[in-house]
Amino acid sequence: MRTPINLGAFGEYLHYGMPLSLVTVLDDDGSVNISTIASITPLPGEPSRLVMGVLEENYTSYLVEKRREFVVNFITPEMRSIARVCGMYSGKDVDKMSMCGLHLLPAAHIRTPLIEECPLNIECEVEHVVRVDDLYLFISKILVLEVAPELADERGDVNLEQLQLLFYSFGHTFALGPLVGQDPI
Ligand SMILES: Cc1cc2nc3c(=O)[nH]c(=O)nc-3n(C[C@H](O)[C@H](O)[C@H](O)COP(=O)(O)O)c2cc1C
Repeated sequence: MRTPINLGAFGEYLHYGMPLSLVTVLDDDGSVNISTIASITPLPGEPSRLVMGVLEENYTSYLVEKRREFVVNFITPEMRSIARVCGMYSGKDVDKMSMCGLHLLPAAHIRTPLIEECPLNIECEVEHVVRVDDLYLFISKILVLEVAPELADERGDVNLEQLQLLFYSFGHTFALGPLVGQDPI
């Protein structure tokens, strides 16, 4: 016997532990729009891919479909209030870049810039767009995963002890817990 749980108005109880990101995409006037996105899942296989779920009502879905590229910028626990602003206002109405006082860095492979304050960035190229009701699924190739220089060790791996990401889980936000194993499983 199990107790069914209410999934929440935005399906927040289905988000059982996803790193929160600020997704950057180029706007029509060349400026950069930022949106808080939790629904990003890495996919198995070669080349490396991820799928991002964005609702049609969000300006980000329009821009990503048009540009066919975007950057996933993972955030730190200290950036929680920025995630709230970028998840509350639409780039249709406001310039979230200047509202949040963030800084941009050029990307290595695409025209869309990275957010400097975010410790881990993933440059993505859209390969397939799947439409399900009012939801867009962007199945995208990962061109490169980049970290701030102080987070890379001498072998080119991420220094996990230093990396602090903000996780969205069951409608709440968490920092990552302690390392419990050196192996993948
Ligand atoms: C914690 C959090 C997670 C969110 N995750 C998503 C998501 O995965 N997909 C989505 O379409 N919207 C998501 N949103 C909502 C968008 O960030 C929000 O509607 C935003 O205003 C869209 O901005 P835009 O119109 O500039 O794209 C999330 C909001 C918050 C606060």
